[in-house]
Amino acid sequence: MHKQRTVSADLSDDHRARRRSDWAAGGDDGWFWQLVRGRRSVRRYLPDPVERGLLETLLTAAVWAPSAHNRQPWRFCVVTTDPVKQALSDRMGARWHADLSADGVDAAVIERRVRISHARITGAPALVAASLSLEGMDDYPDRRRQEAEWLMAVQSTALACQNLLLAAHQYGLAACWMCAPLFVPDLVRDVLDLPESWHPQALITLGYAAEEKERERLPLAERVTWR
Ligand SMILES: Cc1cc2nc3c(=O)[nH]c(=O)nc-3n(C[C@H](O)[C@H](O)[C@H](O)COP(=O)(O)O)c2cc1C
Repeated sequence: MHKQRTVSADLSDDHRARRRSDWAAGGDDGWFWQLVRGRRSVRRYLPDPVERGLLETLLTAAVWAPSAHNRQPWRFCVVTTDPVKQALSDRMGARWHADLSADGVDAAVIERRVRISHARITGAPALVAASLSLEGMDDYPDRRRQEAEWLMAVQSTALACQNLLLAAHQYGLAACWMCAPLFVPDLVRDVLDLPESWHPQALITLGYAAEEKERERLPLAERVTWR
């Protein structure tokens, strides 16, 4: 299943030379930068449904991400039906409400946060719940290596999600990553009827954008060091 294919040297040399000359020409306005810089987290969507074929295209982009040992530990559950969105949002909202109350957060603030989150989830035409599974990953007797293996599954799943976000942008959709499932994995598994071996990591809301977003990044010097 995990066979490796090698591309002929000629083809990859040609590819490398072409890409290098693109870069040397200094243009940063090509399709790649439009894709990478143009993707934004968008949280409000038009009610128009997202075609199933398009969702499958996004998921195909997701599974072309690199993964540790090429074991592809990601698992996805696509939600497009209103009762499931509603149940997921209601139950996650109730838990969040309880957590924030226990933290002593003001009741009005809690109400507002939960209401916004509910509108985001139920207002998104499609949701992709991303999970990871350790089935197929290496198994170690010691905690140190087992934690590293777990982390590799997390990293691989995050890369798949980034591919999905970029593909969404490429094909005219908007999306946003929500971390809520990480805090209530049991609940997400229960509502979506997922296997026990799936560990929910994120909820990606998807739809056609009903808002525009601008975001900047810090200068490289604030985040990069060279040795
Ligand atoms: C791991 C992760 C968790 C995130 N969780 C949330 C979230 O729970 N709710 C939300 O609105 N945005 C969430 N985001 C989106 C970030 O807020 C967003 O990516 C960041 O502000 C930069 O904006 P941009 O995506 O438009 O460039 C998350 C992003 C990542 C990578």
